[in-house]
Amino acid sequence: MTHQQIILEKLKSHEAQVVILGLGYVGLPLAVVFAQAGFRVTGIDPLGDKVEAVNRGESYVLDVPSAVLANLVEQGKLRATTDFAALREADAVSICVPTPLRKTGDPDLSYIVSAVEGLAPHVHAGMVVVLESSTYPGTTRELILPRLTMDSGLVVGEDIFLAFSPERVDPGRRDWTTQNTPKVIGGVTSACGEVSAEWYRQALDTVVPVSSTEAAEMAKLLENTFRMVNITLVNELAIMCDRLGVDVWEVIDAAATKPFGFMKFTPGPGIGGHCIPIDPLYLSWKLKSLHYTARFIDLASEINATMPRFSVGKVQDALNDRGKAVKGSRILVLGVAYKPDIDDMRESPALDIIHLLQERGGDVRYHDPHVPSFDQEGWAMESVKDLMGEVGAADAVVIVTNHRAYNYSAILERARLVVDLRNATGAMGTNNPKVVKL
Ligand SMILES: NC(=O)c1ccc[n+]([C@@H]2O[C@H](COP(=O)([O-])OP(=O)(O)OC[C@H]3O[C@@H](n4cnc5c(N)ncnc54)[C@H](O)[C@@H]3O)[C@@H](O)[C@H]2O)c1
Repeated sequence: MTHQQIILEKLKSHEAQVVILGLGYVGLPLAVVFAQAGFRVTGIDPLGDKVEAVNRGESYVLDVPSAVLANLVEQGKLRATTDFAALREADAVSICVPTPLRKTGDPDLSYIVSAVEGLAPHVHAGMVVVLESSTYPGTTRELILPRLTMDSGLVVGEDIFLAFSPERVDPGRRDWTTQNTPKVIGGVTSACGEVSAEWYRQALDTVVPVSSTEAAEMAKLLENTFRMVNITLVNELAIMCDRLGVDVWEVIDAAATKPFGFMKFTPGPGIGGHCIPIDPLYLSWKLKSLHYTARFIDLASEINATMPRFSVGKVQDALNDRGKAVKGSRILVLGVAYKPDIDDMRESPALDIIHLLQERGGDVRYHDPHVPSFDQEGWAMESVKDLMGEVGAADAVVIVTNHRAYNYSAILERARLVVDLRNATGAMGTNNPKVVKL
């Protein structure tokens, strides 16, 4: 039997030992889905706290209920470790490590490199490896393939099988999950594509094979660039409507009644999260190395970066209209997560907004039902305990994230001034003298 036939048999019978490298927002739900499909799964993460939590059956990812995790751990289907030696037994490995930006704005591939360096000594014939981390087209073939084959002498597509499959998870979402969101996958060779697609088919509802790793990498960047550019377009629309004295929310709702050829996006104080503001910059970085400027991405990134400052300008003007300055005003920021109903603060515009308000002398506090406290490189704050008391005491309440947990009508009733950057107050806030919208 060929190595391809052996691994395919192991995958179809679920005897293959699965290892997930990186147990974060992406890796933990994926580990759970494979374990639920009947595979024995080991998660490897350098963070001891996460590993211990998984082994105790305690989830730290919103989309994974602790009861589900605990059940899989108890049944011996899922375990976690910090020890890369667990890769010795692995047949199928998925890499779900972070791909942030460096301070310079360039891709930081150090997590992928360190994961692959941890994997390389254990790579063996009949192994399938899939990269899930969002990255620029070419990463799987140019960065990972040589590291896995150089010393081992293994031949890709014959001995080992390497593919890219972008994760599309939308944290906090209930209708589309890791399990039922169609999964694009492309191999370095056609055999790599076949083996990896067969693996994922065992656990996921719909697998969408594409012809290469580059096509799969680029598909993810198209999805995220599409969102980045469109959100930024409506953000700029908000700036233009502000100049024109037109209600941007009314304009968007009106346009959205067109039953074809229009897709509704809503503006806000800036794009956050680990994906939308970052992944497109991986693409523009790669294109620069090919002497091409990705103008849409660069422009969107530039406009998006102005949104926190524009939002603070709205707070400043609203206070000014009431004869107050930001300096010395008590300002309550509602919501610091980057989007509603989750606890993730990565790249959240709330941080810039709080910082800019503090720089202007504002006495800034925040409340977030999902983020009890934060510490960003030594800058620590705690969510206020008495929400409605603070709403009443504040000179301005600034809605940065429209969490569903808030009772907006009670907030409007109690507050003196609400600067609503998300249209969380909807019709209640329109023509309401207390409310200033983005
Ligand atoms: N979070 C999302 O909504 C989302 C959605 C789609 C795609 N993605 C992409 O998926 C990737 C992972 O994102 P995430 O949100 O899960 O990140 P995360 O930070 O939540 O998790 C990554 C995990 O990898 C671990 N790790 C770091 N170095 C490692 C190594 N060498 N070996 C093993 N583990 C290591 C970290 O300790 C961490 O627990 C990123 O490329 C991201 O762009 C994320």
